Amino acid sequence: MAQYIRPEATILVMFGGAGDLAWRKLGPALYNLCIDGWLPDRFAVIGVDRVPMSNDQFRQRVRDGVDRFSRRGKAGDEDWQTFAPCLTYVQGSLDDPATYTSLSSRLGEQEKGWSAASDHIFYLAIPPTLFGSVAQGLHKAQLSHPQQSVRIVIEKPFGWDLESARALNRSLASIFHESQIYRIDHYLGKETVQNILAFRFANSIFEPVWNRRYVDNVQITVAEEVGVEHRGEYYERAGALRDMVQNHLLQVMNFIAMEPPVSFDADEIRNRKVDVLHAVRPIPHDEVPKFAVRGQYNEGWIEGQRVPAYRAEPNVSPGSSSETFAALKLYVDNWRWQGVPFYLRTGKRLPQRVSEVSIQFQPAPHQPFPPMAVVDWQPNRLVMRIQPDETIFIRFQVKQPGPELRLVPQDMHFCYQDAFQVPTPEAYETLLLDVMRGDPTLFIRADRVEAAWTILMPILDVWGQVRPSDFPNYQAGTWGPSTADELLARDGRNWLPPTTIEECAV
Ligand code: BG6
Repeated sequence: MAQYIRPEATILVMFGGAGDLAWRKLGPALYNLCIDGWLPDRFAVIGVDRVPMSNDQFRQRVRDGVDRFSRRGKAGDEDWQTFAPCLTYVQGSLDDPATYTSLSSRLGEQEKGWSAASDHIFYLAIPPTLFGSVAQGLHKAQLSHPQQSVRIVIEKPFGWDLESARALNRSLASIFHESQIYRIDHYLGKETVQNILAFRFANSIFEPVWNRRYVDNVQITVAEEVGVEHRGEYYERAGALRDMVQNHLLQVMNFIAMEPPVSFDADEIRNRKVDVLHAVRPIPHDEVPKFAVRGQYNEGWIEGQRVPAYRAEPNVSPGSSSETFAALKLYVDNWRWQGVPFYLRTGKRLPQRVSEVSIQFQPAPHQPFPPMAVVDWQPNRLVMRIQPDETIFIRFQVKQPGPELRLVPQDMHFCYQDAFQVPTPEAYETLLLDVMRGDPTLFIRADRVEAAWTILMPILDVWGQVRPSDFPNYQAGTWGPSTADELLARDGRNWLPPTTIEECAV
């Protein structure tokens, strides 16, 4: 994130090389980094998985992923010839020591002829239940060191609750130094999420109003049209709170609420983020319903298509209690945010795919206009649209032209696509490049993982103990259960409808 340097010589080992993540995300991201000239001259990818495959079959699978999922579309033959030779494959079971012996030899062969040893990145694109076996396997094969040039990358979920997250952190820490562990939250790779830092800390006009004196409330919405798709088994265990709030929504909230860092040093940024989580007011167990609501989608309509209820999705129990929608109210007990509610909501099968942050400002302290002038009046609002149609806009009142004095809200837009007219890199491109450069700014430290779980534990405890009696409680294609509206109505507020972005040249 911080520097514009190409990484040193690197070998990236993809455990789960035959899996979904490698196919959909990692292969296309590496291909695009190659085409954009970001990869080092000495670079190799070794896929490791139990599925038997030759190097050529592995290359073909990666190409198929590129053709389907790359932001550039299908790979051109010439571009592919540049990238393909760096891909090779090692077949083996992840709990078999022989796999790590083969991997070790392959690493040696690869580096033969390179003038110096390369950095080794072990990307665990595998279920978390296998993290321990791989870490042990690497350790026993003496591949977990040296600290400066070996990194391990893991994907969420980082545990299922505070206790299991602590256990995972302890188990990784018994083999790797914390500086070697890169925990990925792909939201941090999104340009628009990183831009929150630029917006807040590279401009002087917003900081004076970024606090309890001017802000009435903050709303963070991450809405999806899709249902659980083929992930019923995982989702049954996870639910929306674990799947989305523990990581993506709290990350976005972190960037909005953190104090200005004194530098862009990775630990300085990460310290300021953890400070926010430590300041979040704990939710007492007996008050969970006042602060958190859950929902599960019933059948309904999305874009003219009939879609099934969550309980009718594959691998989902017909009496499932897993939530597909969660909404929370959090307070940050510090000088800046005392008394300002942060409302967070996320759900599947909502009416549109949209992620945005709305900062609603206080009303003007005195209204000198006649009542007829202000019938359409709305408080100022700043919206950061994270996706799609990446935009920032500010809403303010203007006088409608004409002899009458009438104030109407209008929006001032900044649209990424209009302004830059270049495709933004995918989150995984940014994050993979940062791992290769050894820049941990956009990765999650162990203490932050635990701080995030600490906030959610009372909710998880109560939801785990009390079966929801009203599930399914929202129709697919609507904005979630009525209890989510009541959460804000009790405070005299409502969810702000997502902005309509017309001006962007999308
Ligand atoms: C993943 C969740 O982390 O994020 C998915 O596991 C969710 O359930 C996805 O669909 C959303 O990511 P994005 O980038 O499409 O907003």
